[in-house]
Amino acid sequence: MYRTHTCGELKINDAGKSVTLCGWVQKSRDLGGMTFVDLRDRYGITQLVFNMETNPDLCGQARKLGREFVIRAKGTVRERSNKNLKIPTGEIEIIVNELNILNRSEIPPFTIEEDTDGGDELRMKYRYLDLRRNSVKNNMILRHRVAQEVRKYMDSIGFIEVETPFLIKSTPEGARDFVVPSRMQPGTFYALPQSPQTLKQLLMVSGFDRYFQIVRCFRDEDLRADRQPEFTQIDCEMSFVERDDVLDTFEGLAKYLFKKIKGIEITEPFPKLSFNEAMEHYGTDKPDLRFGMKFTNLTSACKGHGFIPFDSAEHIAGIRAEGCSEYSRKQIDELTEFVRRPQIGSKGLFYLRYGKDGSLKSSFDKFFTPGDLGQLTSEMKAVPGDLILILAGDKQRTLTALSELRLEMGSRLGLRTSEKFVPLWVVDFPLVEWDEETKRYYAMHHPFTSPRPEDIHLMETNPAKVRANAYDLVINGVEIGGGSIRIHDTALQKLMFRVLGFTDEEAEAQFGFLLNAFRYGAPPHGGIAFGFDRWVAMFGGQDSIRDFIAFPKNNAGRDIMLDTPSPILDRQLEELMLSIKKPEKE
Ligand code: AMO
Repeated sequence: MYRTHTCGELKINDAGKSVTLCGWVQKSRDLGGMTFVDLRDRYGITQLVFNMETNPDLCGQARKLGREFVIRAKGTVRERSNKNLKIPTGEIEIIVNELNILNRSEIPPFTIEEDTDGGDELRMKYRYLDLRRNSVKNNMILRHRVAQEVRKYMDSIGFIEVETPFLIKSTPEGARDFVVPSRMQPGTFYALPQSPQTLKQLLMVSGFDRYFQIVRCFRDEDLRADRQPEFTQIDCEMSFVERDDVLDTFEGLAKYLFKKIKGIEITEPFPKLSFNEAMEHYGTDKPDLRFGMKFTNLTSACKGHGFIPFDSAEHIAGIRAEGCSEYSRKQIDELTEFVRRPQIGSKGLFYLRYGKDGSLKSSFDKFFTPGDLGQLTSEMKAVPGDLILILAGDKQRTLTALSELRLEMGSRLGLRTSEKFVPLWVVDFPLVEWDEETKRYYAMHHPFTSPRPEDIHLMETNPAKVRANAYDLVINGVEIGGGSIRIHDTALQKLMFRVLGFTDEEAEAQFGFLLNAFRYGAPPHGGIAFGFDRWVAMFGGQDSIRDFIAFPKNNAGRDIMLDTPSPILDRQLEELMLSIKKPEKE
């Protein structure tokens, strides 16, 4: 046996035992008469001791051990005189009597410790070393635990896991596909699935009325902290259900995971907010409800006082920052700069201070009487000590900018802590959205999402007004999952394709397999998919999903460790009958 114990399990009541441990040298300290080595494996760190007086040869060997050497040490467990109560094995040490070097290591490119000196790119290049660090390793263990719990829960409520293919058909809807050329049929391509959407619908036609899969999805889209080109979904579909059946089922999953993973018992039903309400009150379809600061529409209260920025605005709205009336000029200037950033795009920020002494002072004092200001504070339900922040402009931009300002204020006031979780369902999304560039409607969710039955009559006359039977699970301002009740009726599906500007022939060419299947008895069905990486990262208290994926890509979509995407051999291109167009010189 290579080892009798791991580096994380020996405790004080093991004192006196003969043991053999294996692992990596975290660090060694040479104190003259004694040499201490911290031995690390997946389970923890155990201190090894080598005594110069009793065993000078062995101690000499120990002194030569470099960082990350792989060793095996045999010895006896002993109570430590100088205990380290910060680690579970900190009360003992091993007096070593036999040492084998199993492998040497070059000096690692960064220190494999919690506070590493390695930058992001370096850590990604040597990801296998980064994964030795506790925090990244623990993220992987958390991911594993969440996956196990998902499987346990889904199995317990009768869902079966079915794998679906990765080489499928490219469709132009949604994000850009990653494509794979076929050698056997030159000039043709597979696409990697953006999600198993149509396949899970086919499984419903097959009668698997409760399906799930923890599955990789691929999307060639611009990347951000919470987006990777390949990511994992908990993908689910159910037959013979209506919206609330789906929401209840997956609220059950969410509550189960909160309980098992975070020890948090959520007893209340998740609130439901319509898309329109979410936009009106929070300026986003994924509101962070860990804190209030709901928008107040001040359009009519602010207009008509001769103040041009207000009088010329389509929409004026404000938020109330509790206890911030004493914000300094500098702090207000910082917030003004914040809303003026090009990505936020407001022209300016207006404020009204409601002093603790009841005084009112605003950035538009010249145009508002004290009575008018008082009116504003009552619209805002403000109390002394509040700072009211107001944005004005065209409606959409004002709401979006105020949403960013609200989040900024939430962060500044420490209201967005990673240990608080506030989930909600956002429902009734628009079915389609208009794209000015291509002059056509696109499905807001995907083309198989069903309209709300009461809105179907508007599909041909006013598609933009049609609400979809679609929903998102939002937690702490992050879209954790989304889904919908699907269209299961061929005629309605064809109408949907017409609204999206497809001719019957185009729809047939792209989605014929699904339309065909629907001719053979498609049950009413609906489902949802959760961003698994996002959910795990949220449980781990982080915004970026990268450190919850074993081998992630950087923001340019590169795998720095594998050094790819990379060219392929001319022979491979020939086999595929492909040639690469040289970029034109500028
Ligand atoms: P949707 O496109 O909303 O729905 O995706 C579902 C969830 O997947 C996560 N997600 C991502 N996570 C990391 N990186 C990405 N690039 C990325 N893109 C999406 C989000 C999102 O909520 N087939 C439908 C679901 C359905 O209707 O059942 C779908 O894929 O958390």
